[in-house]
Amino acid sequence: MFVNAKAVALLLATSVSLITAAFLSLVSGTPQLAVFLSGILSFGACFVLTFVTFEFLIFREVNSIYNKFSKIKKRDYATADFQINSPDVSHAVGFFTNPIRQVNEEITAYTTEKLHEIDKLKKLEQYRREFIADVSHELKTPLFAAQGFIHTLIDGAMEDETVRMTFLEKAAKNLDSLTRLVKDLLTLSQIESGAITMMPDIFNLHELGKDVIEQLENHAEKRSIQCKLVLKARKTDGDMPFNVWADEQRIKQVLINLVINGIKYGREGGTVWLELKANENAVKITVRDDGQGINPEHLGRIFERFYRVDKSRSKMQGGTGLGLAITKHILEKHNSKINVSSQVGLGTTFSFKLPKHLEAESQED
Ligand SMILES: Nc1ncnc2c1ncn2[C@@H]1O[C@H](COP(=O)(O)OP(=O)(O)OP(=O)(O)O)[C@@H](O)[C@H]1O
Ligand SMILES: [Mg+2]
Repeated sequence: MFVNAKAVALLLATSVSLITAAFLSLVSGTPQLAVFLSGILSFGACFVLTFVTFEFLIFREVNSIYNKFSKIKKRDYATADFQINSPDVSHAVGFFTNPIRQVNEEITAYTTEKLHEIDKLKKLEQYRREFIADVSHELKTPLFAAQGFIHTLIDGAMEDETVRMTFLEKAAKNLDSLTRLVKDLLTLSQIESGAITMMPDIFNLHELGKDVIEQLENHAEKRSIQCKLVLKARKTDGDMPFNVWADEQRIKQVLINLVINGIKYGREGGTVWLELKANENAVKITVRDDGQGINPEHLGRIFERFYRVDKSRSKMQGGTGLGLAITKHILEKHNSKINVSSQVGLGTTFSFKLPKHLEAESQED
């Protein structure tokens, strides 16, 4: 049977008007016209009241619940109905509160929250699967290579002295990269889980920058690259413009990762600049090279674990593809954000900021 607000109102209004008219006609002395008019009046009033009550308070809300459920079934919840904090989810206004609407809103809010949670869990699950696949692949390569060299030696290559040395060196090189990979993975997971916490203190970025460049001089020389430290400060920045408040060892790791990338992927015979620029409250650190640059399609992904633009070249340089992921995490723990810009053929620039240690603060301490 077709049930809607109009049909229900019609049925109820007819019954009420008939009963009213019947009762009045039983009262002796009631004129026929009065019986007729009261029948008409009670029909009209009852129809309007019932229609409004059913249509606006019940049927519309129930229909809206059905519509939302059919969307949920089709997983089409990208509409305004399912946005968290959508106006629909707010409670009914005014002195009159429709309980069905409230139930509807509660269900929508709850469903929306759960759907978002499910989506998040699905993404995490996919990320976990990809991560395990990546780790296994990265571990497999050096492990199998070292295993191959050792087995070949055991199977007889040991007798030949030159082959023996070469194979042992190759096995050792592969095991070294395996160790580096495991160490990087451990660092990354410890930073993420909070097992490694940042230990901020005052230190001088100028000194640290010099230290890093000195440490990487050998690497740079191998590719005839010059590493330059550029300092930019105004008189108003005080005597110690490059004193910052951060974890020195972790920031050293960040600078090494960025400068070494500049050396590895920079132009042979080119330059890598490490620039420190003091601002009022922060020091901006920029690492720039004049190398091959990074294509825009890869630029957004280089901070992902194991992401390498040129896999073979990066591997040849002993890269695990974790350096920038670690860098990003360390800086996030310092409430800082790393920015990158690059132009193919011209070079790449990475930059981030660290809070300055203001001299006034140290005097107050
Ligand atoms: N300065 C740069 N110029 C051009 N490409 C770069 C530069 N820095 C990073 N890349 C690209 O981004 C990728 C990711 O860098 P990342 O430092 O995370 O890994 P990696 O250098 O390959 O290995 P790792 O740093 O773990 O030894 C690199 O493989 C390289 O392709
Ligand atoms: Mg790197």
